[in-house]
Amino acid sequence: MGEKMWIFHNADNSKCLFSIWNQWCLCYAAVVCLLFSPTVRPEDACPSSCVCARDSGTVTCRDGDDTDVPGDIPEWTSTLILRGRNISTLQRGAFVANGTELEMTALSLSYNGIKALEPYAFLGLPRLHLLDLSHNRLQSISARAFHGLLELRSLYLNYSVLPAATAQLSNALSTQSLRNLHRLELAGNRLKSIPLMRLDIYNLHALVLVNNSIERIGRENVTVLYEQRRIRVYLSSNPFWCNCELEAFYYWLKNSSQCPDAARILCSEPEVKRGIPVEKLLGEDVDCMNENLEAVSYVFLGIVLALIGVVFLMVLYLNRGGIKRWLNNIREACRDQMEVYHYRYEQDSDPRLANVAV
Ligand SMILES: *[C@@H]1O[C@H](CO)[C@@H](O)[C@H](O)[C@H]1NC(C)=O
Ligand SMILES: *[C@@H]1O[C@H](CO)[C@@H](O)[C@H](O)[C@H]1NC(C)=O
Ligand SMILES: *[C@@H]1O[C@H](CO)[C@@H](O)[C@H](O)[C@H]1NC(C)=O
Ligand SMILES: *[C@@H]1O[C@H](CO)[C@@H](O)[C@H](O)[C@H]1NC(C)=O
Ligand SMILES: *[C@@H]1O[C@H](CO)[C@@H](O)[C@H](O)[C@H]1NC(C)=O
Ligand SMILES: *[C@@H]1O[C@H](CO)[C@@H](O)[C@H](O)[C@H]1NC(C)=O
Repeated sequence: MGEKMWIFHNADNSKCLFSIWNQWCLCYAAVVCLLFSPTVRPEDACPSSCVCARDSGTVTCRDGDDTDVPGDIPEWTSTLILRGRNISTLQRGAFVANGTELEMTALSLSYNGIKALEPYAFLGLPRLHLLDLSHNRLQSISARAFHGLLELRSLYLNYSVLPAATAQLSNALSTQSLRNLHRLELAGNRLKSIPLMRLDIYNLHALVLVNNSIERIGRENVTVLYEQRRIRVYLSSNPFWCNCELEAFYYWLKNSSQCPDAARILCSEPEVKRGIPVEKLLGEDVDCMNENLEAVSYVFLGIVLALIGVVFLMVLYLNRGGIKRWLNNIREACRDQMEVYHYRYEQDSDPRLANVAV
Protein backbone atom coordinates (compact mmCIF):
# COMPACT_ATOMS: atom_id res chain seq x y z
CA MET A 1 0.00 0.00 0.00
CA GLY A 2 2.74 2.40 1.03
CA GLU A 3 4.68 1.62 -2.13
CA LYS A 4 1.68 2.25 -4.36
CA MET A 5 1.09 5.70 -2.73
CA TRP A 6 4.72 6.52 -3.31
CA ILE A 7 4.40 5.54 -7.00
CA PHE A 8 1.46 7.93 -7.33
CA HIS A 9 3.39 10.90 -5.91
CA ASN A 10 6.49 10.29 -8.05
CA ALA A 11 4.92 9.87 -11.47
CA ASP A 12 8.24 10.61 -13.24
CA ASN A 13 9.99 7.59 -11.77
CA SER A 14 6.97 5.32 -12.13
CA LYS A 15 8.41 3.24 -15.03
CA CYS A 16 11.61 2.42 -13.22
CA LEU A 17 9.79 1.60 -10.01
CA PHE A 18 7.35 -0.62 -11.87
CA SER A 19 10.15 -2.82 -13.17
CA ILE A 20 11.58 -3.16 -9.61
CA TRP A 21 8.09 -4.10 -8.44
CA ASN A 22 7.94 -6.77 -11.18
CA GLN A 23 11.32 -8.22 -10.25
CA TRP A 24 10.32 -8.37 -6.58
CA CYS A 25 7.17 -10.24 -7.60
CA LEU A 26 9.15 -12.80 -9.58
CA CYS A 27 11.58 -13.30 -6.74
CA TYR A 28 8.68 -13.82 -4.29
CA ALA A 29 7.06 -16.32 -6.67
CA ALA A 30 10.32 -18.27 -6.93
CA VAL A 31 10.64 -18.45 -3.16
CA VAL A 32 7.04 -19.64 -2.86
CA CYS A 33 7.72 -22.23 -5.56
CA LEU A 34 10.80 -23.51 -3.75
CA LEU A 35 9.02 -23.68 -0.40
CA PHE A 36 6.03 -25.63 -1.64
CA SER A 37 7.63 -27.64 -4.40
CA PRO A 38 7.28 -31.06 -2.56
CA THR A 39 3.49 -30.74 -2.65
CA VAL A 40 3.42 -30.21 -6.40
CA ARG A 41 5.37 -33.41 -6.95
CA PRO A 42 5.55 -35.19 -10.27
CA GLU A 43 3.20 -38.08 -10.96
CA ASP A 44 5.64 -40.97 -10.32
CA ALA A 45 7.29 -39.60 -7.19
CA CYS A 46 8.20 -42.43 -4.82
CA PRO A 47 8.26 -41.95 -1.05
CA SER A 48 11.78 -41.79 0.35
CA SER A 49 13.24 -45.17 1.43
CA CYS A 50 10.68 -47.02 -0.72
CA VAL A 51 10.86 -48.83 -4.04
CA CYS A 52 8.07 -48.16 -6.48
CA ALA A 53 6.95 -50.31 -9.39
CA ARG A 54 4.51 -48.20 -11.29
CA ASP A 55 3.52 -51.01 -13.69
CA SER A 56 2.26 -53.31 -10.97
CA GLY A 57 1.18 -50.47 -8.71
CA THR A 58 3.41 -51.77 -5.93
CA VAL A 59 5.20 -49.64 -3.36
CA THR A 60 7.61 -51.47 -1.06
CA CYS A 61 9.19 -49.83 1.95
CA ARG A 62 11.59 -51.99 3.95
CA ASP A 63 13.71 -51.61 7.05
CA GLY A 64 13.70 -47.82 7.19
CA ASP A 65 14.54 -45.90 10.32
CA ASP A 66 11.09 -44.42 10.07
CA THR A 67 8.65 -45.31 12.79
CA ASP A 68 5.73 -44.09 10.73
CA VAL A 69 3.72 -44.89 7.66
CA PRO A 70 5.04 -42.81 4.73
CA GLY A 71 2.76 -39.78 4.37
CA ASP A 72 3.14 -39.42 0.63
CA ILE A 73 1.86 -42.71 -0.76
CA PRO A 74 1.27 -42.23 -4.50
CA GLU A 75 -2.33 -42.23 -5.63
CA TRP A 76 -1.72 -45.02 -8.13
CA THR A 77 -0.60 -47.48 -5.41
CA SER A 78 -2.59 -50.70 -5.43
CA THR A 79 -0.27 -52.72 -3.18
CA LEU A 80 1.66 -51.22 -0.29
CA ILE A 81 4.22 -53.33 1.57
CA LEU A 82 5.78 -51.97 4.74
CA ARG A 83 8.18 -54.22 6.59
CA GLY A 84 10.69 -53.96 9.41
CA ARG A 85 9.83 -50.37 10.23
CA ASN A 86 9.17 -50.42 13.99
CA ILE A 87 5.83 -48.69 13.66
CA SER A 88 4.67 -49.41 17.25
CA THR A 89 1.29 -47.64 17.05
CA LEU A 90 -0.88 -47.54 13.97
CA GLN A 91 -2.65 -44.24 14.44
CA ARG A 92 -6.11 -43.15 13.45
CA GLY A 93 -6.19 -42.46 9.73
CA ALA A 94 -2.59 -43.63 9.27
CA PHE A 95 -3.22 -44.09 5.54
CA VAL A 96 -5.25 -40.99 4.87
CA ALA A 97 -2.99 -39.06 2.51
CA ASN A 98 -3.86 -35.44 1.92
CA GLY A 99 -7.42 -36.01 3.11
CA THR A 100 -8.20 -38.20 0.11
CA GLU A 101 -9.06 -41.88 -0.08
CA LEU A 102 -6.55 -44.28 -1.61
CA GLU A 103 -7.62 -46.89 -4.13
CA MET A 104 -5.19 -49.41 -2.64
CA THR A 105 -6.39 -53.04 -2.63
CA ALA A 106 -3.62 -54.84 -0.70
CA LEU A 107 -1.76 -53.70 2.38
CA SER A 108 0.96 -55.76 4.02
CA LEU A 109 2.18 -54.64 7.42
CA SER A 110 3.91 -57.78 8.67
CA TYR A 111 7.05 -57.57 10.84
CA ASN A 112 6.65 -53.96 11.89
CA GLY A 113 6.54 -54.43 15.66
CA ILE A 114 3.05 -52.96 15.76
CA LYS A 115 1.79 -52.98 19.35
CA ALA A 116 -1.40 -50.97 19.12
CA LEU A 117 -4.15 -50.46 16.59
CA GLU A 118 -5.97 -47.20 17.22
CA PRO A 119 -9.62 -46.62 16.25
CA TYR A 120 -10.12 -45.98 12.53
CA ALA A 121 -6.50 -46.91 11.78
CA PHE A 122 -7.51 -48.02 8.27
CA LEU A 123 -9.68 -45.08 7.41
CA GLY A 124 -9.60 -43.98 3.79
CA LEU A 125 -8.99 -47.43 2.31
CA PRO A 126 -12.47 -48.36 1.10
CA ARG A 127 -11.18 -50.66 -1.67
CA LEU A 128 -8.85 -52.72 0.50
CA HIS A 129 -9.21 -56.46 -0.23
CA LEU A 130 -6.29 -57.87 1.69
CA LEU A 131 -4.77 -56.78 4.97
CA ASP A 132 -1.78 -58.62 6.42
CA LEU A 133 -0.89 -57.77 10.01
CA SER A 134 1.04 -60.99 10.70
CA HIS A 135 4.13 -61.15 12.90
CA ASN A 136 3.53 -58.07 14.97
CA ARG A 137 3.11 -57.76 18.74
CA LEU A 138 -0.41 -56.51 19.25
CA GLN A 139 -1.19 -55.69 22.87
CA SER A 140 -4.00 -53.27 22.27
CA ILE A 141 -6.63 -53.41 19.53
CA SER A 142 -9.37 -50.81 19.46
CA ALA A 143 -12.90 -52.11 19.03
CA ARG A 144 -13.12 -49.74 16.04
CA ALA A 145 -9.72 -50.60 14.56
CA PHE A 146 -11.19 -52.29 11.47
CA HIS A 147 -13.95 -49.79 10.82
CA GLY A 148 -14.44 -48.75 7.23
CA LEU A 149 -12.91 -51.87 5.62
CA LEU A 150 -16.11 -52.61 3.77
CA GLU A 151 -14.50 -54.64 1.00
CA LEU A 152 -11.94 -56.53 3.02
CA ARG A 153 -11.89 -60.18 2.00
CA SER A 154 -8.70 -61.52 3.61
CA LEU A 155 -7.38 -60.62 7.02
CA TYR A 156 -4.13 -62.18 8.24
CA LEU A 157 -3.19 -61.94 11.89
CA ASN A 158 -0.80 -64.88 12.19
CA TYR A 159 1.66 -64.86 15.11
CA SER A 160 0.65 -61.35 15.98
CA VAL A 161 -1.87 -61.15 18.83
CA LEU A 162 -0.51 -61.30 22.37
CA PRO A 163 -2.75 -62.95 25.01
CA ALA A 164 -3.49 -59.53 26.55
CA ALA A 165 -5.26 -58.47 23.36
CA THR A 166 -7.31 -61.61 22.66
CA ALA A 167 -10.54 -60.30 24.16
CA GLN A 168 -10.06 -56.98 22.36
CA LEU A 169 -9.50 -58.82 19.09
CA SER A 170 -12.83 -60.54 19.54
CA ASN A 171 -14.51 -57.14 19.94
CA ALA A 172 -12.68 -55.58 17.03
CA LEU A 173 -13.61 -58.45 14.72
CA SER A 174 -17.30 -58.22 15.55
CA THR A 175 -17.72 -55.04 13.52
CA GLN A 176 -20.31 -55.00 10.75
CA SER A 177 -17.64 -53.43 8.51
CA LEU A 178 -16.10 -56.86 7.98
CA ARG A 179 -19.22 -58.35 6.42
CA ASN A 180 -17.34 -59.28 3.25
CA LEU A 181 -14.57 -61.13 5.07
CA HIS A 182 -13.82 -64.39 3.27
CA ARG A 183 -10.66 -65.57 4.89
CA LEU A 184 -9.46 -64.98 8.45
CA GLU A 185 -6.08 -66.38 9.52
CA LEU A 186 -5.20 -66.40 13.19
CA ALA A 187 -2.40 -68.98 13.39
CA GLY A 188 -0.03 -69.06 16.38
CA ASN A 189 -1.75 -66.64 18.73
CA ARG A 190 -2.14 -68.91 21.79
CA LEU A 191 -5.92 -68.59 21.45
CA LYS A 192 -7.97 -70.73 23.82
CA SER A 193 -11.22 -70.47 21.91
CA ILE A 194 -12.63 -69.24 18.62
CA PRO A 195 -12.22 -65.46 19.02
CA LEU A 196 -15.47 -64.67 17.24
CA MET A 197 -18.72 -63.96 19.02
CA ARG A 198 -20.77 -64.74 15.96
CA LEU A 199 -20.10 -66.26 12.58
CA ASP A 200 -23.16 -65.15 10.66
CA ILE A 201 -22.05 -61.50 10.30
CA TYR A 202 -19.27 -62.40 7.87
CA ASN A 203 -19.10 -64.18 4.58
CA LEU A 204 -16.37 -66.46 5.91
CA HIS A 205 -15.15 -69.36 3.79
CA ALA A 206 -11.93 -70.07 5.66
CA LEU A 207 -11.07 -69.68 9.31
CA VAL A 208 -7.48 -70.67 10.13
CA LEU A 209 -6.84 -71.37 13.81
CA VAL A 210 -3.83 -73.71 13.53
CA ASN A 211 -1.12 -73.73 16.18
CA ASN A 212 -3.14 -72.19 18.99
CA SER A 213 -4.05 -73.38 22.51
CA ILE A 214 -7.59 -74.59 21.90
CA GLU A 215 -8.43 -77.51 24.21
CA ARG A 216 -12.09 -77.95 23.39
CA ILE A 217 -14.80 -76.58 21.18
CA GLY A 218 -18.16 -76.71 22.89
CA ARG A 219 -21.55 -77.78 21.66
CA GLU A 220 -22.86 -74.20 21.08
CA ASN A 221 -19.96 -73.43 18.75
CA VAL A 222 -20.39 -76.71 16.89
CA THR A 223 -24.07 -75.95 16.33
CA VAL A 224 -23.10 -72.59 14.83
CA LEU A 225 -20.47 -74.23 12.62
CA TYR A 226 -23.04 -76.71 11.26
CA GLU A 227 -25.24 -73.75 10.32
CA GLN A 228 -22.44 -72.08 8.34
CA ARG A 229 -22.12 -74.85 5.76
CA ARG A 230 -19.65 -72.99 3.49
CA ILE A 231 -17.08 -72.30 6.20
CA ARG A 232 -13.88 -74.38 6.43
CA VAL A 233 -12.08 -74.38 9.76
CA TYR A 234 -8.40 -75.34 10.12
CA LEU A 235 -7.53 -76.54 13.60
CA SER A 236 -4.37 -78.68 13.50
CA SER A 237 -1.68 -78.19 16.16
CA ASN A 238 -4.06 -77.44 18.99
CA PRO A 239 -3.87 -79.35 22.32
CA PHE A 240 -7.30 -81.00 22.32
CA TRP A 241 -8.62 -82.63 25.50
CA CYS A 242 -10.20 -85.86 24.43
CA ASN A 243 -12.83 -86.41 27.09
CA CYS A 244 -16.56 -86.58 26.78
CA GLU A 245 -16.91 -82.78 26.52
CA LEU A 246 -15.55 -83.16 22.99
CA GLU A 247 -18.47 -85.30 21.85
CA ALA A 248 -20.28 -82.71 19.68
CA PHE A 249 -16.99 -81.61 18.12
CA TYR A 250 -15.98 -85.23 17.46
CA TYR A 251 -19.14 -85.94 15.49
CA TRP A 252 -18.81 -82.64 13.65
CA LEU A 253 -15.26 -83.62 12.61
CA LYS A 254 -16.41 -87.05 11.47
CA ASN A 255 -19.42 -86.11 9.42
CA SER A 256 -19.42 -82.44 8.46
CA SER A 257 -16.27 -82.39 6.25
CA GLN A 258 -15.87 -78.73 7.20
CA CYS A 259 -12.42 -79.36 8.61
CA PRO A 260 -9.86 -79.98 5.85
CA ASP A 261 -7.02 -80.78 8.28
CA ALA A 262 -9.09 -83.12 10.48
CA ALA A 263 -6.53 -85.93 10.19
CA ARG A 264 -3.95 -83.70 11.93
CA ILE A 265 -6.14 -82.71 14.86
CA LEU A 266 -4.63 -84.71 17.73
CA CYS A 267 -5.46 -85.38 21.37
CA SER A 268 -3.00 -84.01 23.91
CA GLU A 269 -4.88 -85.10 27.05
CA PRO A 270 -5.50 -87.52 28.71
CA GLU A 271 -2.07 -89.07 28.48
CA VAL A 272 -3.32 -92.46 27.27
CA LYS A 273 -4.84 -90.80 24.21
CA ARG A 274 -1.98 -88.37 23.47
CA GLY A 275 -1.14 -88.21 19.76
CA ILE A 276 -4.27 -90.04 18.63
CA PRO A 277 -6.24 -88.18 15.93
CA VAL A 278 -9.55 -87.00 17.40
CA GLU A 279 -11.48 -88.42 14.47
CA LYS A 280 -9.93 -91.88 15.10
CA LEU A 281 -11.38 -92.05 18.61
CA LEU A 282 -14.27 -94.41 19.27
CA GLY A 283 -17.73 -93.17 19.99
CA GLU A 284 -17.55 -94.45 23.56
CA ASP A 285 -14.32 -92.48 24.21
CA VAL A 286 -16.28 -89.26 23.99
CA ASP A 287 -19.62 -90.57 25.23
CA CYS A 288 -20.62 -88.69 28.37
CA MET A 289 -23.41 -91.23 28.96
CA ASN A 290 -20.78 -93.96 29.02
CA GLU A 291 -18.48 -92.02 31.30
CA ASN A 292 -21.32 -91.17 33.65
CA LEU A 293 -22.63 -94.72 33.61
CA GLU A 294 -19.24 -96.02 34.63
CA ALA A 295 -19.06 -93.62 37.54
CA VAL A 296 -22.66 -94.37 38.48
CA SER A 297 -22.06 -98.14 38.36
CA TYR A 298 -19.12 -97.89 40.77
CA VAL A 299 -21.18 -95.84 43.19
CA PHE A 300 -24.02 -98.31 42.83
CA LEU A 301 -21.75 -101.30 43.54
CA GLY A 302 -20.44 -99.56 46.65
CA ILE A 303 -23.94 -98.89 47.90
CA VAL A 304 -25.01 -102.49 47.29
CA LEU A 305 -21.99 -103.85 49.18
CA ALA A 306 -22.65 -101.50 52.09
CA LEU A 307 -26.29 -102.58 52.15
CA ILE A 308 -25.35 -106.24 52.22
CA GLY A 309 -23.01 -105.53 55.11
CA VAL A 310 -25.68 -103.68 57.04
CA VAL A 311 -28.25 -106.43 56.42
CA PHE A 312 -25.78 -109.03 57.62
CA LEU A 313 -25.10 -107.11 60.82
CA MET A 314 -28.87 -106.63 61.33
CA VAL A 315 -29.50 -110.32 60.96
CA LEU A 316 -26.79 -111.05 63.47
CA TYR A 317 -28.22 -108.51 65.89
CA LEU A 318 -31.86 -109.61 65.57
CA ASN A 319 -30.93 -113.26 65.97
CA ARG A 320 -28.64 -112.73 68.90
CA GLY A 321 -30.95 -114.95 71.12
CA GLY A 322 -31.02 -117.70 68.51
CA ILE A 323 -27.31 -117.43 67.94
CA LYS A 324 -26.68 -117.77 71.66
CA ARG A 325 -28.85 -120.82 71.75
CA TRP A 326 -27.11 -122.20 68.71
CA LEU A 327 -23.70 -121.56 70.24
CA ASN A 328 -24.84 -123.24 73.42
CA ASN A 329 -26.08 -126.20 71.44
CA ILE A 330 -22.73 -126.45 69.72
CA ARG A 331 -20.95 -126.21 73.03
CA GLU A 332 -23.15 -128.91 74.51
CA ALA A 333 -22.66 -131.11 71.50
CA CYS A 334 -18.94 -130.64 71.87
CA ARG A 335 -19.05 -131.41 75.56
CA ASP A 336 -21.06 -134.59 74.89
CA GLN A 337 -18.55 -135.58 72.34
CA MET A 338 -15.69 -134.90 74.71
CA GLU A 339 -17.37 -136.89 77.46
CA VAL A 340 -17.88 -139.83 75.18
CA TYR A 341 -14.25 -139.65 74.20
CA HIS A 342 -13.12 -139.31 77.79
CA TYR A 343 -15.19 -142.34 78.83
CA ARG A 344 -13.74 -144.38 76.00
CA TYR A 345 -10.27 -143.31 76.92
CA GLU A 346 -10.79 -144.35 80.47
CA GLN A 347 -12.12 -147.76 79.40
CA ASP A 348 -9.27 -148.25 76.92
CA SER A 349 -6.61 -147.26 79.43
CA ASP A 350 -7.71 -149.84 81.95
CA PRO A 351 -6.10 -152.93 80.29
CA ARG A 352 -2.90 -150.96 79.77
CA LEU A 353 -2.88 -149.98 83.42
CA ALA A 354 -3.48 -153.63 84.28
CA ASN A 355 -0.57 -154.64 82.10
CA VAL A 356 1.71 -152.15 83.76
CA ALA A 357 0.59 -153.44 87.09
CA VAL A 358 1.44 -156.91 85.88
C1 LIG B 1 -3.83 -33.16 -2.50
O1 LIG B 1 -5.09 -33.27 -3.09
C2 LIG B 1 -5.34 -32.30 -4.11
C3 LIG B 1 -6.75 -32.47 -4.61
O2 LIG B 1 -7.25 -33.72 -4.33
C4 LIG B 1 -4.32 -32.48 -5.24
O3 LIG B 1 -4.51 -31.54 -6.23
C5 LIG B 1 -2.91 -32.38 -4.68
O4 LIG B 1 -1.96 -32.65 -5.66
C6 LIG B 1 -2.74 -33.37 -3.52
N1 LIG B 1 -1.43 -33.22 -2.92
C7 LIG B 1 -0.71 -34.28 -2.58
C8 LIG B 1 0.55 -33.97 -1.89
O5 LIG B 1 -1.05 -35.41 -2.85
C1 LIG C 1 11.24 -48.97 18.12
O1 LIG C 1 10.85 -47.65 18.45
C2 LIG C 1 10.75 -47.38 19.82
C3 LIG C 1 10.34 -45.95 20.00
O2 LIG C 1 9.27 -45.66 19.16
C4 LIG C 1 12.10 -47.62 20.48
O3 LIG C 1 11.99 -47.45 21.87
C5 LIG C 1 12.54 -49.05 20.19
O4 LIG C 1 13.84 -49.27 20.71
C6 LIG C 1 12.56 -49.33 18.71
N1 LIG C 1 12.89 -50.71 18.46
C7 LIG C 1 13.68 -51.11 17.48
C8 LIG C 1 13.90 -52.58 17.36
O5 LIG C 1 14.20 -50.35 16.72
C1 LIG D 1 -0.26 -66.56 7.80
O1 LIG D 1 -0.23 -65.37 7.05
C2 LIG D 1 0.54 -65.41 5.87
C3 LIG D 1 0.46 -64.07 5.26
O2 LIG D 1 1.43 -63.29 5.82
C4 LIG D 1 0.07 -66.50 4.96
O3 LIG D 1 0.83 -66.54 3.79
C5 LIG D 1 0.13 -67.81 5.69
O4 LIG D 1 -0.30 -68.85 4.88
C6 LIG D 1 -0.70 -67.71 6.94
N1 LIG D 1 -0.93 -68.96 7.60
C7 LIG D 1 -0.11 -69.62 8.43
C8 LIG D 1 -0.61 -70.87 8.99
O5 LIG D 1 0.99 -69.23 8.74
C1 LIG E 1 3.58 -72.61 16.71
O1 LIG E 1 3.69 -71.35 17.33
C2 LIG E 1 4.83 -71.17 18.12
C3 LIG E 1 4.76 -69.80 18.73
O2 LIG E 1 3.46 -69.50 19.15
C4 LIG E 1 6.07 -71.37 17.28
O3 LIG E 1 7.20 -71.25 18.09
C5 LIG E 1 6.05 -72.73 16.61
O4 LIG E 1 7.13 -72.87 15.74
C6 LIG E 1 4.78 -72.90 15.83
N1 LIG E 1 4.67 -74.23 15.31
C7 LIG E 1 4.33 -74.49 14.06
C8 LIG E 1 4.26 -75.92 13.67
O5 LIG E 1 4.10 -73.60 13.26
C1 LIG F 1 -18.57 -70.11 21.11
O1 LIG F 1 -19.07 -70.41 22.39
C2 LIG F 1 -18.91 -69.40 23.36
C3 LIG F 1 -19.48 -69.89 24.66
O2 LIG F 1 -19.25 -71.23 24.85
C4 LIG F 1 -19.59 -68.13 22.92
O3 LIG F 1 -19.33 -67.10 23.85
C5 LIG F 1 -19.10 -67.71 21.56
O4 LIG F 1 -19.82 -66.60 21.13
C6 LIG F 1 -19.24 -68.85 20.58
N1 LIG F 1 -18.68 -68.46 19.29
C7 LIG F 1 -19.28 -68.70 18.15
C8 LIG F 1 -18.59 -68.24 16.94
O5 LIG F 1 -20.34 -69.27 18.10
C1 LIG G 1 -23.25 -87.09 12.66
O1 LIG G 1 -23.06 -88.40 13.14
C2 LIG G 1 -23.80 -88.73 14.31
C3 LIG G 1 -23.42 -90.13 14.76
O2 LIG G 1 -23.26 -90.98 13.70
C4 LIG G 1 -25.28 -88.61 14.04
O3 LIG G 1 -25.99 -88.87 15.20
C5 LIG G 1 -25.58 -87.18 13.56
O4 LIG G 1 -26.92 -87.06 13.22
C6 LIG G 1 -24.71 -86.83 12.37
N1 LIG G 1 -24.92 -85.44 12.05
C7 LIG G 1 -24.98 -85.01 10.81
C8 LIG G 1 -25.26 -83.55 10.68
O5 LIG G 1 -24.83 -85.71 9.86
